[in-house]
Amino acid sequence: MSNQVDFGPLAELIGVWKGDKGTDLAPEPDGAEVNPYSETITYAAVGDVTNAESQVLAVVRYHLEVMHKENNSKIHDETGYWIWDAKTETVINSLIIPRAVCVLAGGKFDSKVDENGQLTLDVEATIDHSDWNIIQSPFMKEKARTNSFNRTITVGNGKMKYFQSTKLSIYGKEFDHTDENELFRQ
Ligand code: HEM
Repeated sequence: MSNQVDFGPLAELIGVWKGDKGTDLAPEPDGAEVNPYSETITYAAVGDVTNAESQVLAVVRYHLEVMHKENNSKIHDETGYWIWDAKTETVINSLIIPRAVCVLAGGKFDSKVDENGQLTLDVEATIDHSDWNIIQSPFMKEKARTNSFNRTITVGNGKMKYFQSTKLSIYGKEFDHTDENELFRQ
């Protein structure tokens, strides 16, 4: 591993970010609940890795913590990596949430920069995707199954916005569990 690497679009992420205008829509047995939240995300440069002596990936590790605005209790914790494959222009987000759910989401990087000088990172995974999948415990598969995950992050000039949709089968119905927030580099 070396840390003299080109992180490509992931270079924009590295640092500590905070935002307090998050909105979560989460499932409840009788419908849904809306949770306003504040959030801290820390992205750290790892370096690069070589796979099978041919694929070189640039890697950023992150940890995010989400607190309910009402009482500052933690409502989401997530750790993972963002990975950049320059050769195929692919971004990958591998993540774990402590409900015994792991996601390997990926997508082709579109190098377009918008009018605010920001880049977009767009990844998806589904339980039946040929490349990008979800692994979950037997309990979650049966009772609170994650069927798909999509995450879009727009980042640049010290500002980040994201929207994500986690499609669940829970309480005998289909539920679109969504989260969005705006964060600023500290
Ligand atoms: C900002 C991000 C997120 C927040 C704030 C959040 C928050 C929540 C909340 C408040 C619940 C309801 C928990 C309860 O009623 O006890 C929930 C349920 C759930 N979340 Fe998330 N979540 C986030 C992201 C994710 C992600 C990325 C995944 C998976 C890829 C995920 C998977 C689930 C699952 C499977 C449940 C159903 C478990 C249950 O309600 O019993 N969540 N989430």
